[in-house]
Amino acid sequence: MRYGRAPEVLRDIDLNLEPGSFHFLTGATGAGKSSLLKLIYLAARPSRGLISLFGRDVNAMARRDLPFVRRRIGVVFQEFHLLDHLSAFDNVGLPLRIAGARIEDYRADVIELLQWVGLGGKIHAFPPTLSGGEKQRLSIARAVVNKPDILLADEPTGNVDHAMALRILRLLVEMNSLGTTVVIASHDQDLVRRSGMPVLHVHDGGLHLIGAAPQASAAEPAPPEPARPESARPEPVPHDDPEDPEAQSEPEPPPAAEGEA
Ligand SMILES: Nc1ncnc2c1ncn2[C@@H]1O[C@H](COP(=O)(O)OP(=O)(O)OP(=O)(O)O)[C@@H](O)[C@H]1O
Ligand SMILES: [Mg+2]
Repeated sequence: MRYGRAPEVLRDIDLNLEPGSFHFLTGATGAGKSSLLKLIYLAARPSRGLISLFGRDVNAMARRDLPFVRRRIGVVFQEFHLLDHLSAFDNVGLPLRIAGARIEDYRADVIELLQWVGLGGKIHAFPPTLSGGEKQRLSIARAVVNKPDILLADEPTGNVDHAMALRILRLLVEMNSLGTTVVIASHDQDLVRRSGMPVLHVHDGGLHLIGAAPQASAAEPAPPEPARPESARPEPVPHDDPEDPEAQSEPEPPPAAEGEA
């Protein structure tokens, strides 16, 4: 893969992401992590080689099919890509609205999800008024709201403290245990180590698999914090406003779908 006439960023990559797998994506800054994710979510085309998604050759896909394929992929962008003129609620609800859902059918789910990522007190806030970590959590909520088959997260913990990073990791592990294929680009070596998950390392244009853990371990909780509650439900992130009654209810985990990658 190359940008314009620049040298190739990625080359000779042979990667098969099994449905339901969980990988970290590491590598030096500028190595090509975001570029690899762009190839997977169809924001970039390979200059040579083949990519197939959900069993279909990407190059053979009709243009009109691309939005439907993209809807099956949730993306947490490195720069968030939130819509500043929409509230937190509307940002998260947007993928559902685009898919044709009615607000009365998704209102409760979106509020629950916002509570779950600790933004129950910011439902009507606009992105420019949120902190970096809050924007990050908002973008995570938006990525998971329509039950993607694949979740790609580009530095999803780059703007939060360590405790929050571990909570986000738990959320992503939980999504994965419900069937979603997960790839997380991260510079956080501690998080990667604690997760025990296999690592794809980008170096010198190539991709190297390090420490492939057996598939089954992908659903295990990371060792970061004490065992998960028996209900296999991650705890909601602490609410910003403990006075808010919305913060008191424990939301369901975000929905995740089964599917193939
Ligand atoms: N839109 C673009 N146009 C031209 N070159 C680009 C573009 N996006 C990225 N690049 C170049 O491609 C290379 C890989 O960039 P990429 O963003 O994939 O790296 P990364 O591993 O995600 O880095 P970081 O850890 O800093 O996020 C870099 O040399 C970068 O300058
Ligand atoms: Mg990047």
